[in-house]
Amino acid sequence: MAEKEPIGVIGVGWVGLCTAACFAELGHPVIARDILPEKVESLSRGEVPIHEPGLPELVRKNADRLRFTTDMGELLEGAELLFCCVDTPPLYSGDADLSRVEAVVAELGDSNSHAIVMKSTVPVGTGRAIHRRREDLGYVSNPEFLKEGSAVDDFMNPDRVVVGSGDGSDGFADRVAALYEPLGGPIVRTDVASAEMIKLASNAFLATKISFINEIANVSEELGADVREVARGMGLDERIGDKFLQAGLGFGGSCFPKDVSALKQLAGNSGYHFQLLNSVIEVNDLQKRRAIGKLQKHLGPLVNKEIALLGVAFKPNTDDIREATSLVLAARLQSEGAHVRVYDPVALDNAEDLLGGAQVCSSALEALDGADGAVLVTEWPEFGELDWAGEVRERMRAPVIVDGRNFLDRTALREAGFTYEGIGR
Ligand SMILES: NC(=O)c1ccc[n+]([C@@H]2O[C@H](COP(=O)([O-])OP(=O)(O)OC[C@H]3O[C@@H](n4cnc5c(N)ncnc54)[C@H](O)[C@@H]3O)[C@@H](O)[C@H]2O)c1
Repeated sequence: MAEKEPIGVIGVGWVGLCTAACFAELGHPVIARDILPEKVESLSRGEVPIHEPGLPELVRKNADRLRFTTDMGELLEGAELLFCCVDTPPLYSGDADLSRVEAVVAELGDSNSHAIVMKSTVPVGTGRAIHRRREDLGYVSNPEFLKEGSAVDDFMNPDRVVVGSGDGSDGFADRVAALYEPLGGPIVRTDVASAEMIKLASNAFLATKISFINEIANVSEELGADVREVARGMGLDERIGDKFLQAGLGFGGSCFPKDVSALKQLAGNSGYHFQLLNSVIEVNDLQKRRAIGKLQKHLGPLVNKEIALLGVAFKPNTDDIREATSLVLAARLQSEGAHVRVYDPVALDNAEDLLGGAQVCSSALEALDGADGAVLVTEWPEFGELDWAGEVRERMRAPVIVDGRNFLDRTALREAGFTYEGIGR
């Protein structure tokens, strides 16, 4: 059997590790480079430093085809298609910070046999700018759409794969497209700028959907409608669809906030005022704080009140806390004078420094013990399985629950004597 195309991966975080493990699973020899020696060492021992379902198993299963290194030279020797998966966090200005991408480009010596395959989310125009400076290298845009919590499944069963190329890189793009053919999803071949825009526009659209349903929720509270019923009725319309119509405490995570902001700034830098995205961001900022008003409605001033936050991760099945709603709530509650206790099944190690003086608990029951109120921030399944009517009811001092994700059984909680506040109902 012919040897499969070797793959190089630069940056072994969520996207890089998932890309490396999945291409190895498809039979490719993969060499993955990160600048953090401790990360490379632990991965080389088969230890996966992030919480992502199915990923540790995939890394261990394909250990023979996966090699981790800190050495760029080893990577360049081992592969021609170099998937760039480094982080592109927001700058203070709201623009994307491309310093890590630039560092990668600077480390690649003159070569017309290598191509950068850009998986990092970058501003529209990045590919063109890199190509202008480095005509020797091939450049293919291949934005990533995986979701943390279901990253492996998303990679292996893509809704679509986007491959953008031009300026003499179409041959490399053919090779990139061929890698994904076994997965069976539609492959969108396009130019580099359009590929870059597909990624940003997709995230901005999903964020818009979330802010839209959150505003419908807020109006529904005033007018007596139930946003869950509204979303169910809306979602059955094929033109709308039922995804991303769950009202809650707003979106967070490492992608939506920064990508929406990056697209807004990108538009502004080119002279266009993207009014809709300003509103999406503002609605989301306010939505994260709504739980505070709901607690105050029942508990009055929060000074010296004990408040439990259930969930720190920005969504279930991940330990990622970047831009998580919990961090905003912990800070706001503490500045209202409340004592905050937090619990999360997996994300506490990452969060402790960012939670200010909040007390970190080792179980949900410990966080709820003696609490005046609780906010469900992340819909981890274990929070639904708590004995709310029995043990939780007995332990809480004033049983006020703000269900920030409309996740709990409202009727059962009310029957058990809780004061229940959902979002938009
Ligand atoms: N996390 C997601 O759900 C997701 C989904 C789609 C797209 N993206 C995009 O993919 C990119 C990566 O995101 P992530 O969440 O995987 O980031 P991450 O922070 O988890 O990982 C980035 C990795 O790159 C490494 N790195 C930095 N500079 C390097 C260099 N010069 N050489 C080698 N390694 C280097 C870091 O040490 C880190 O391990 C971002 O642009 C992000 O917007 C992320």
